[in-house]
Amino acid sequence: MQIGIFTDETALATTAAKHLIKILNNSENKVLGLATGSTPLPLYEQLRAANRAGKFTLRGVQGFALDEYVGIAADHPERYRNVLRAELVGDDKTGLREEDLHTPEGNAADPRQAAADYDAAIKAAGGIAIQILGIGADGHIGFNEPGTSLTSRTHVDVLTEQTRRDNARFFENDMDKVPSQCITQGLGTIMEAKYIMLIATGENKATAVRELVEGGISARWQASMLQMHPNALILVDEAAASELQLAVFYRERWNHNL
Ligand code: PGA
Repeated sequence: MQIGIFTDETALATTAAKHLIKILNNSENKVLGLATGSTPLPLYEQLRAANRAGKFTLRGVQGFALDEYVGIAADHPERYRNVLRAELVGDDKTGLREEDLHTPEGNAADPRQAAADYDAAIKAAGGIAIQILGIGADGHIGFNEPGTSLTSRTHVDVLTEQTRRDNARFFENDMDKVPSQCITQGLGTIMEAKYIMLIATGENKATAVRELVEGGISARWQASMLQMHPNALILVDEAAASELQLAVFYRERWNHNL
């Protein structure tokens, strides 16, 4: 696990984009794991800028979202397929093609089958070269909420009250409008990505980041499973790093540029 601590969001996003582009360019299977939420937005802006500058394109790359709400209207702007389309799809964005954007089918008649099909589609694409992750204040990655098996596959889950409260800002500040279920890649699925890049910003992520990096591995803090991943890059701002006991050491190791 490498931990980078940044003073500002732009420096963090620039480093994140640099690593993502390098890993994807060097990877034989061009498969990118995509995250939604607020945290990756500056990174997506960097990818759009790189595409505009002709330095990078997601054209020809397969993109797989981490998760999707169950039972959200197809045209709802917060449906993750629509969010990712608006951020990434098209030559005026990152070059990602609509047909190469894969999201779990949250409106399927049988969401559990849709989850299993999604897991199989990731495998069929050759697996994810690099997975972008955010983290919930309750430690979730994807929508793997506390208590989920640390080896779970893509599955239907229920959102915690905390997550629905956190996401209410996307739903007219009304947590009752936040869907209560989702389909999410499981921890077992996420752990199969060759590289992981988790980004966390803001003080309300500080406890989750502490548990991720320095806590024991436990189903209570799902992200702690990343301690078992051989290639996990954790990029945080000062606020999200504020509860880390060994921040001085992580900075020193980061400066060694391993
Ligand atoms: P956020 O969400 O980036 O909007 O904070 C992260 C997450 O819930 O995984």
